[in-house]
Amino acid sequence: MKLPTLLALALGHLVVASPTKRNQVDGAAPKIDDPNFISRVMDAHWYWRRIHCAQDLTWDPALAQAAFDSVNACTEHPQHDRGGSNLSSMGPAPGHYDEWLRAAREMVQGWHEEELKYPYDNPTWDTAWGHFTQVVWRNTSHLGCAMAHCGDVEFPARLYCFYESPGNVLSDGMTEFKANVWPMVCKDPDQKRPH
Ligand SMILES: *[C@@H]1O[C@H](CO)[C@@H](O)[C@H](O)[C@H]1NC(C)=O
Ligand SMILES: *[C@@H]1O[C@H](CO)[C@@H](O)[C@H](O)[C@H]1NC(C)=O
Repeated sequence: MKLPTLLALALGHLVVASPTKRNQVDGAAPKIDDPNFISRVMDAHWYWRRIHCAQDLTWDPALAQAAFDSVNACTEHPQHDRGGSNLSSMGPAPGHYDEWLRAAREMVQGWHEEELKYPYDNPTWDTAWGHFTQVVWRNTSHLGCAMAHCGDVEFPARLYCFYESPGNVLSDGMTEFKANVWPMVCKDPDQKRPH
Protein backbone atom coordinates (compact mmCIF):
# COMPACT_ATOMS: atom_id res chain seq x y z
CA MET A 1 0.00 0.00 0.00
CA LYS A 2 2.75 2.47 0.94
CA LEU A 3 4.99 2.00 -2.08
CA PRO A 4 2.61 3.00 -4.89
CA THR A 5 1.73 6.16 -2.96
CA LEU A 6 5.37 7.17 -2.70
CA LEU A 7 5.97 6.46 -6.36
CA ALA A 8 2.99 8.53 -7.32
CA LEU A 9 4.29 11.46 -5.30
CA ALA A 10 7.77 11.19 -6.77
CA LEU A 11 6.24 11.35 -10.21
CA GLY A 12 4.23 14.35 -9.09
CA HIS A 13 7.33 16.23 -8.06
CA LEU A 14 8.92 15.61 -11.41
CA VAL A 15 5.96 17.20 -13.11
CA VAL A 16 6.02 20.21 -10.76
CA ALA A 17 9.66 20.83 -11.61
CA SER A 18 8.74 21.84 -15.15
CA PRO A 19 8.20 25.59 -14.71
CA THR A 20 6.31 26.35 -17.91
CA LYS A 21 3.46 23.97 -17.12
CA ARG A 22 0.64 24.77 -14.79
CA ASN A 23 -1.07 21.46 -15.25
CA GLN A 24 -2.58 19.00 -12.87
CA VAL A 25 0.16 17.09 -11.06
CA ASP A 26 -0.46 13.41 -11.73
CA GLY A 27 -1.19 10.94 -9.01
CA ALA A 28 -1.40 13.27 -6.01
CA ALA A 29 -4.99 14.36 -5.44
CA PRO A 30 -7.72 11.76 -4.82
CA LYS A 31 -9.72 10.79 -7.90
CA ILE A 32 -13.39 11.66 -8.25
CA ASP A 33 -14.43 8.00 -7.99
CA ASP A 34 -12.29 7.32 -4.91
CA PRO A 35 -14.73 6.07 -2.22
CA ASN A 36 -12.58 7.57 0.57
CA PHE A 37 -12.70 10.97 -1.06
CA ILE A 38 -16.43 10.76 -1.74
CA SER A 39 -17.22 9.75 1.83
CA ARG A 40 -15.08 12.53 3.37
CA VAL A 41 -16.85 15.17 1.32
CA MET A 42 -20.30 13.64 1.70
CA ASP A 43 -19.92 13.14 5.47
CA ALA A 44 -18.85 16.73 5.99
CA HIS A 45 -21.90 17.99 4.09
CA TRP A 46 -24.26 15.44 5.60
CA TYR A 47 -23.36 16.34 9.17
CA TRP A 48 -24.08 20.04 8.82
CA ARG A 49 -27.04 19.62 6.51
CA ARG A 50 -28.76 17.39 9.09
CA ILE A 51 -28.24 20.00 11.81
CA HIS A 52 -29.55 22.74 9.52
CA CYS A 53 -32.61 20.63 8.61
CA ALA A 54 -31.60 20.12 4.97
CA GLN A 55 -32.16 16.97 2.93
CA ASP A 56 -29.36 14.44 2.48
CA LEU A 57 -27.37 14.80 -0.72
CA THR A 58 -26.80 12.24 -3.46
CA TRP A 59 -23.34 11.99 -5.01
CA ASP A 60 -23.59 12.81 -8.71
CA PRO A 61 -20.71 11.48 -10.86
CA ALA A 62 -21.61 13.82 -13.72
CA LEU A 63 -21.34 16.84 -11.43
CA ALA A 64 -18.05 15.49 -10.09
CA GLN A 65 -16.77 15.13 -13.65
CA ALA A 66 -17.79 18.71 -14.46
CA ALA A 67 -16.05 19.94 -11.30
CA PHE A 68 -13.00 17.88 -12.28
CA ASP A 69 -12.86 19.41 -15.77
CA SER A 70 -13.09 22.88 -14.28
CA VAL A 71 -10.63 22.55 -11.43
CA ASN A 72 -8.12 20.71 -13.59
CA ALA A 73 -7.80 23.70 -15.86
CA CYS A 74 -5.57 24.90 -13.00
CA THR A 75 -6.06 28.57 -13.69
CA GLU A 76 -3.56 30.72 -11.83
CA HIS A 77 -6.26 32.13 -9.57
CA PRO A 78 -9.06 29.76 -8.65
CA GLN A 79 -12.23 30.79 -10.44
CA HIS A 80 -15.88 29.83 -10.23
CA ASP A 81 -17.28 28.46 -13.48
CA ARG A 82 -20.92 28.46 -12.49
CA GLY A 83 -23.47 29.27 -9.82
CA GLY A 84 -24.00 26.49 -7.33
CA SER A 85 -20.34 25.84 -6.80
CA ASN A 86 -17.90 26.18 -3.93
CA LEU A 87 -14.18 26.30 -4.31
CA SER A 88 -11.28 26.28 -1.88
CA SER A 89 -7.58 26.18 -2.41
CA MET A 90 -4.58 25.81 -0.19
CA GLY A 91 -0.83 25.92 -0.39
CA PRO A 92 1.48 24.25 -0.13
CA ALA A 93 -0.25 21.11 -1.34
CA PRO A 94 -0.61 18.18 1.07
CA GLY A 95 2.29 15.76 1.02
CA HIS A 96 0.45 12.47 0.83
CA TYR A 97 -2.88 10.82 0.24
CA ASP A 98 -4.20 10.90 3.83
CA GLU A 99 -3.46 14.61 4.05
CA TRP A 100 -5.42 15.20 0.86
CA LEU A 101 -8.40 13.45 2.38
CA ARG A 102 -8.08 15.48 5.57
CA ALA A 103 -7.79 18.67 3.53
CA ALA A 104 -11.03 17.85 1.70
CA ARG A 105 -12.90 17.50 4.98
CA GLU A 106 -11.33 20.62 6.49
CA MET A 107 -12.19 22.73 3.46
CA VAL A 108 -15.87 21.79 3.75
CA GLN A 109 -15.73 22.46 7.50
CA GLY A 110 -14.23 25.84 6.68
CA TRP A 111 -17.20 26.63 4.44
CA HIS A 112 -19.53 25.90 7.29
CA GLU A 113 -17.57 28.14 9.66
CA GLU A 114 -18.94 31.13 7.75
CA GLU A 115 -22.18 30.39 9.60
CA LEU A 116 -20.93 32.63 12.41
CA LYS A 117 -21.32 35.63 10.10
CA TYR A 118 -24.69 34.74 8.62
CA PRO A 119 -27.47 37.23 9.52
CA TYR A 120 -30.49 34.98 10.05
CA ASP A 121 -32.61 38.08 10.71
CA ASN A 122 -31.66 39.63 7.36
CA PRO A 123 -31.08 36.62 5.12
CA THR A 124 -29.40 37.32 1.80
CA TRP A 125 -26.24 36.57 -0.17
CA ASP A 126 -22.76 37.83 0.60
CA THR A 127 -19.28 36.56 -0.23
CA ALA A 128 -18.64 36.43 3.53
CA TRP A 129 -21.00 33.46 3.92
CA GLY A 130 -21.79 32.25 0.36
CA HIS A 131 -20.07 28.91 0.90
CA PHE A 132 -21.96 28.25 4.10
CA THR A 133 -25.37 28.99 2.61
CA GLN A 134 -24.65 26.66 -0.33
CA VAL A 135 -23.49 23.84 1.96
CA VAL A 136 -26.75 23.82 3.95
CA TRP A 137 -29.15 24.99 1.17
CA ARG A 138 -32.28 22.90 1.68
CA ASN A 139 -33.39 22.60 -1.94
CA THR A 140 -30.02 21.26 -3.07
CA SER A 141 -30.14 17.49 -3.52
CA HIS A 142 -27.04 16.53 -5.53
CA LEU A 143 -23.33 17.06 -5.07
CA GLY A 144 -20.21 16.30 -7.06
CA CYS A 145 -16.70 17.43 -6.15
CA ALA A 146 -13.17 17.11 -7.44
CA MET A 147 -9.71 17.88 -6.16
CA ALA A 148 -6.74 18.94 -8.19
CA HIS A 149 -3.06 19.34 -7.51
CA CYS A 150 -2.07 22.25 -9.70
CA GLY A 151 1.61 22.79 -10.30
CA ASP A 152 3.13 26.21 -10.52
CA VAL A 153 0.62 28.34 -8.58
CA GLU A 154 0.45 29.88 -5.12
CA PHE A 155 -2.41 27.67 -3.86
CA PRO A 156 -1.98 24.40 -5.74
CA ALA A 157 -4.33 22.13 -3.77
CA ARG A 158 -7.92 22.74 -4.81
CA LEU A 159 -11.34 21.40 -3.98
CA TYR A 160 -14.24 22.30 -6.21
CA CYS A 161 -17.85 21.23 -5.51
CA PHE A 162 -20.85 21.55 -7.83
CA TYR A 163 -24.39 21.55 -6.42
CA GLU A 164 -27.83 20.82 -7.95
CA SER A 165 -30.17 22.54 -7.70
CA PRO A 166 -27.84 25.47 -7.19
CA GLY A 167 -28.17 27.30 -3.90
CA ASN A 168 -27.87 31.01 -3.18
CA VAL A 169 -30.92 31.79 -5.32
CA LEU A 170 -31.54 35.54 -5.21
CA SER A 171 -34.44 35.81 -7.62
CA ASP A 172 -37.11 36.48 -5.01
CA GLY A 173 -35.53 38.91 -2.57
CA MET A 174 -34.98 37.31 0.81
CA THR A 175 -37.62 34.62 0.36
CA GLU A 176 -35.29 31.95 -1.00
CA PHE A 177 -32.64 32.48 1.65
CA LYS A 178 -35.20 32.42 4.42
CA ALA A 179 -36.72 29.20 3.11
CA ASN A 180 -33.46 27.42 2.36
CA VAL A 181 -31.04 28.40 5.12
CA TRP A 182 -32.31 27.23 8.48
CA PRO A 183 -30.54 27.72 11.78
CA MET A 184 -29.10 24.76 13.69
CA VAL A 185 -32.44 23.69 15.11
CA CYS A 186 -32.55 20.07 13.99
CA LYS A 187 -31.25 17.13 15.93
CA ASP A 188 -27.58 16.24 15.82
CA PRO A 189 -26.95 13.40 13.38
CA ASP A 190 -26.54 9.91 14.73
CA GLN A 191 -23.09 8.44 14.60
CA LYS A 192 -23.98 6.43 11.53
CA ARG A 193 -24.87 7.61 8.06
CA PRO A 194 -28.10 6.18 6.68
CA HIS A 195 -26.56 4.10 3.89
C1 LIG B 1 -19.91 29.42 -2.88
O1 LIG B 1 -20.96 28.95 -3.66
C2 LIG B 1 -21.99 29.85 -3.87
C3 LIG B 1 -23.10 29.11 -4.56
O2 LIG B 1 -22.94 29.07 -5.91
C4 LIG B 1 -21.52 31.04 -4.66
O3 LIG B 1 -22.57 31.95 -4.89
C5 LIG B 1 -20.47 31.71 -3.86
O4 LIG B 1 -19.89 32.74 -4.64
C6 LIG B 1 -19.40 30.75 -3.42
N1 LIG B 1 -18.68 31.42 -2.41
C7 LIG B 1 -17.61 32.14 -2.64
C8 LIG B 1 -17.10 32.94 -1.49
O5 LIG B 1 -17.04 32.16 -3.68
C1 LIG C 1 -35.64 23.25 -6.14
O1 LIG C 1 -35.24 21.96 -6.60
C2 LIG C 1 -35.98 21.48 -7.68
C3 LIG C 1 -35.55 20.03 -7.94
O2 LIG C 1 -34.18 19.88 -7.85
C4 LIG C 1 -35.77 22.37 -8.89
O3 LIG C 1 -36.50 21.90 -9.99
C5 LIG C 1 -36.22 23.79 -8.52
O4 LIG C 1 -35.92 24.65 -9.59
C6 LIG C 1 -35.52 24.26 -7.27
N1 LIG C 1 -36.09 25.55 -6.88
C7 LIG C 1 -35.34 26.63 -6.78
C8 LIG C 1 -36.07 27.89 -6.44
O5 LIG C 1 -34.14 26.63 -6.95
